[in-house]
Amino acid sequence: MISRRFFLEQLAGAATALRPSFAARVETGLRDIAVRRGIVYGCAAATYELKDAAFSAALAREAGILSAEYEMKRAALEPSRGRYDFSGGDGLLAFARTHGMAFRGHTLVWDHSNPPWLADALQQPNAEPLLTDYIATVVGHYKGRVRSWDVVNEVLQPTDGRRDGLRDTLWLKRFGPGYIDMAFHAARQADPAALLVYNDWGCEWGAPENDRFRAATLDFLSHALARGVPIQALGLQGHLSAFGTQVDQKKLAVFLDAVRGMGLKILVTEHDVDDSGGPSDIALRDQAVADASRRFLDVMLDNPATQAVLTWGLSDRFLDPPGWRDRLAGRYPRKLPLDRDYGRKPMWNAMAKAFRA
Ligand code: G3I
Repeated sequence: MISRRFFLEQLAGAATALRPSFAARVETGLRDIAVRRGIVYGCAAATYELKDAAFSAALAREAGILSAEYEMKRAALEPSRGRYDFSGGDGLLAFARTHGMAFRGHTLVWDHSNPPWLADALQQPNAEPLLTDYIATVVGHYKGRVRSWDVVNEVLQPTDGRRDGLRDTLWLKRFGPGYIDMAFHAARQADPAALLVYNDWGCEWGAPENDRFRAATLDFLSHALARGVPIQALGLQGHLSAFGTQVDQKKLAVFLDAVRGMGLKILVTEHDVDDSGGPSDIALRDQAVADASRRFLDVMLDNPATQAVLTWGLSDRFLDPPGWRDRLAGRYPRKLPLDRDYGRKPMWNAMAKAFRA
């Protein structure tokens, strides 16, 4: 009678043999720890980062899913009207497939990172195809190869003063609130298999404006689902602050339960922890970053609807440099799991513990 453990070990061995990149990864990365929790861990990346062989090895070890930090936004994909450049997204997708990673698309419709020609083109009559044809082309190009799409990004902002809490974007100005419905239906038609995500920030922290943001999000999602909009998941970006407003674990847990109650999946899509505003001591900053990440992920992962955690990058090396004063003081941002030399930081340990909890 073989034991269950022995059988599973044999199965894992067979899986190892089938997945060359697994054998090539000598260390257990966050991707392996996440899988044991039943979730996927990965990060945003850019093709210029892949030119660094040491970084590519760290990425292959740690990430089980990739998203494009900027190369799949419209400014990169459609630099001139009707002329598409998929090279950046295709490069990242090729790396993901080589290393047995999943891939997610960020983002189809946003108020930023649009090509310069778009604003004027949107003012023409019958402009709807500028939204729907773009989605059909891009989602069609990646059909069957993208696990989930951020169909719309950052569409809520209650402080913009609308009763429906929608952000006053160029899309809202041109098409009214229906642009969100148009976008999701176009994405659904272009790839029936992809998980369609509404991605935003503003629900994570515990301040009064975040209470309003959470209420507006639940209101937006419930009305959209009631209209038959094919939203399947909420993406919480997860941009936190180590020394600013903190996550209110109870408020966040109650909010996540309400999202799950709507039948939606939940993804953490852009997690990082800003360490500005704290002491200069690196060990103290790193520990504060780790603690903030752990407090957030403990709540996120307590909810069974959460299926993915992505950080907004893997290493501090590629973060935007700080202002000249901080540069002069040698204070570079330390927001991510790996340091500038790809060494694991306390945030890496905190995430590993959250995944294992
Ligand atoms: O375009 C150049 C490219 O030619 C060059 O090779 C490359 C490397 O130097 O840089 C590219 O420049 C900029 C790129 O960041 C570099 O990372 C782009 O012009 C610039 O638009 C882009 O900014 C991105 C920003 O979104 C706007 O798209 C940031 O990387 C990215 O971190 C930021 O991410 C957003 C999420 O999409 C949504 N949530 C908030 C988050 C942080 O702002």
